[in-house]
Amino acid sequence: MTESSMWVEKYRPTKLSSIINQKEIVGSLRSLLKNTSEMPHLLFSGSAGVGKTTTALCLAREILGESWHEHTLELNASDERGINMVRERVKKFARFSGLDTSIPFKLIILDEADEMTSDAQTALRRIIEDTAKHCRFIMIANNISKIIDPLQSRCAVFKFTRISEEDVINHLEEICKKEKVKYNQEGLKTLYQNSEGDMRHSINMLQAAASIGMVNEDNVKASAGLSKTSDVNIVLKLALGGKISEARNKMIELIKVYGMSESDFLKYLNEECYRIKTTHLSEMLEIIAKYDYRLIIGANPEIQLSALLAELGNIEK
Ligand SMILES: Nc1ncnc2c1ncn2[C@@H]1O[C@H](COP(=O)(O)OP(=O)(O)O)[C@@H](O)[C@H]1O
Ligand SMILES: [Mg+2]
Repeated sequence: MTESSMWVEKYRPTKLSSIINQKEIVGSLRSLLKNTSEMPHLLFSGSAGVGKTTTALCLAREILGESWHEHTLELNASDERGINMVRERVKKFARFSGLDTSIPFKLIILDEADEMTSDAQTALRRIIEDTAKHCRFIMIANNISKIIDPLQSRCAVFKFTRISEEDVINHLEEICKKEKVKYNQEGLKTLYQNSEGDMRHSINMLQAAASIGMVNEDNVKASAGLSKTSDVNIVLKLALGGKISEARNKMIELIKVYGMSESDFLKYLNEECYRIKTTHLSEMLEIIAKYDYRLIIGANPEIQLSALLAELGNIEK
């Protein structure tokens, strides 16, 4: 599926006024925009799929106008090239900014800032100070407690909340009407229940269900079952529960039948570890990292991933 045929992209708001559910945040941002040149750096936190990146992009449009794209640098902080890449890209981007007087400043959107090590965050603090004259940062983090205090204190912090059932369902209903998709209320309710206020996830599931047929409870459940992350979640739970051979069968099904690549499997598994409540998070991440490395250097995937599941199975013992 191309990006433009994905409903999450097609229906991504382009104006602050179309952002759903984050009324207080949008209100505060509007008051900051009254005096744009005084706008502080911003830090957006909150769980996945609730509008953090979208809001940052809407702000870029409102502040920088039509040429926003030229004056906005989007970076993914968890990129494996790390802080040196961030420094180089920011430097290069900031260099010519004094020349353009039609915009108040350039914007740097730093997604997944909480994936940076605290050393990298300390380095980032310097970068922010060095470019403060011409650039404003919008940092985005799922988990604000992983952002070091000196960075937090330099930003206005906005905490995004999960989207309410009513708002998710209304939005899905609107999309159904625009796409001329048949639906019923049970179907939409089931979508909400499977997504827990994550709008991205609920729209993706809606599109998957609609590709089967009417958006009703059965089709939603079928599509939720097919959706990759929820299947990886099942594998993870089976493994953690010590049911290694069941976990392994399900994992092989995902890879062989649904065509999920081994590295994607690890990526989704890594994401699921954050999603479930566990006191063993760091051990689990260490284990995944170890097998990720083994796969990269070319070990047999099926053997390695089976060993990975076995190792996860030992954690809670
Ligand atoms: N508050 C919202 N209002 C409208 N659509 C939203 C909202 N939050 C998420 N979405 C939908 O989900 C997609 C992903 O949102 P995004 O802003 O990237 O989430 P994140 O909080 O993970 O950065 C968007 O393209 C949009 O379709
Ligand atoms: Mg995002």
